Amino acid sequence: ALTSDLKKQSQLKEVAGILLQTATVDNWNQIQNFEAKPDDRLICTYPKAGTTWIQEIVDMIEQDADVEKCQRAIIQHCHPFIEWARSPQPCARNAKDCMVSYYYFQRMNQVLPDPGTWEEYFEAFIDGKVGWGSWFDHVKGWWEKDRYQVLFLFYEDIKKDPKHEIQKVAQFMGKNLDETVLDKIVQETSFEKMKENPMTNRSTVPKSILDQSISPFIRKGTVGDWKNHFTVAQNENFDEIYKKKMEGITINFCLEL
Ligand code: A3P
Repeated sequence: ALTSDLKKQSQLKEVAGILLQTATVDNWNQIQNFEAKPDDRLICTYPKAGTTWIQEIVDMIEQDADVEKCQRAIIQHCHPFIEWARSPQPCARNAKDCMVSYYYFQRMNQVLPDPGTWEEYFEAFIDGKVGWGSWFDHVKGWWEKDRYQVLFLFYEDIKKDPKHEIQKVAQFMGKNLDETVLDKIVQETSFEKMKENPMTNRSTVPKSILDQSISPFIRKGTVGDWKNHFTVAQNENFDEIYKKKMEGITINFCLEL
């Protein structure tokens, strides 16, 4: 019964042209009527763009790098997902690495559809026929938003210069961090630390939902892993489609460090 239940959950449904998890779509009215308070903060990431990373960074800033306080609960409870019907700050990651990361995630996530072969997934991702919709629409939509209300962050920038980017987030949150606090946050939100941290690595989620033996949730955390997966032909094909889909958008993604 559990397996068939999970199977049912793993089917996506469409709302406003975007595929989402069944539970989200069934609860859409409530989610759509959510009213934010003026001082609410939203983290708006495309899947696999570094959601958990920025959640942990924001939490550490809020708690002045108090590690014990940050351990109070698993990160998905500290910052609940609105689409999971419990309760702007977008973080974007280059499309190619996002695609690879999402592919592995769909393989290990038993409540998302099976991604099929890499070739099949490549097409589905480009067509936006994946959960939470099209990477292109997500990035374009947020990029064109009001600069004063939205802090647009890049995964690749945080990777390159975490200290600088964390300071930017703190500033946006109206927080002034002293040097030791800042250094502590950099250290505690590193890939290695977050991979070991049970509050961020999803180790508390049962294997029937997230099977980390297929692929760990905190998997590789690099820029440029796409090079290990894209064939030369796929890369050329992708670059061409990208140019068309992102026409007129002045946004520059870093594809390697
Ligand atoms: P990879 O699959 O490329 O390793 P999300 O939280 O949005 O699901 O994103 C998951 C991706 O962010 C995974 O990418 C994961 O490894 C990476 N990630 C999580 N924490 C990170 C950290 N501290 N530093 C770098 N990458 C991190």
